[in-house]
Amino acid sequence: MKFPICFIIISTTYITNMTDEPVFTWEEIAKHNTEADMWVVVNDKVYDVTNYQLEHPGGPLVLLSRAGKNASLAFEQASHSKNAI
Ligand code: HEM
Repeated sequence: MKFPICFIIISTTYITNMTDEPVFTWEEIAKHNTEADMWVVVNDKVYDVTNYQLEHPGGPLVLLSRAGKNASLAFEQASHSKNAI
């Protein structure tokens, strides 16, 4: 099974933390909301799930419905296992 790439820790500003990790605003994340370019946020990390959607055991539609958004609550409510991410 392939797993989505985790990008980063998000922030509400571009002012970064002390690491070299990229930081995105919600405005930027919101642009990645299509099947062809899909990011979701789970627990303050951004995941590029574009190449993962068809492999997701919960199906692609639940990811599409949260594309470009905070999917943390939905992720938690779907009772994922500890190693899902
Ligand atoms: C980065 C985001 C996500 C990843 C990496 C991910 C990964 C996985 C994995 C590995 C499973 C298999 C079961 C497990 O190991 O827990 C799973 C199942 C599932 N996921 Fe996700 N998931 C993500 C986001 C979501 C979101 C946002 C939803 C919204 C509701 C969702 C809904 C489900 C459901 C309903 C199942 C159960 C499918 C079944 O048992 O038939 N997932 N997911």
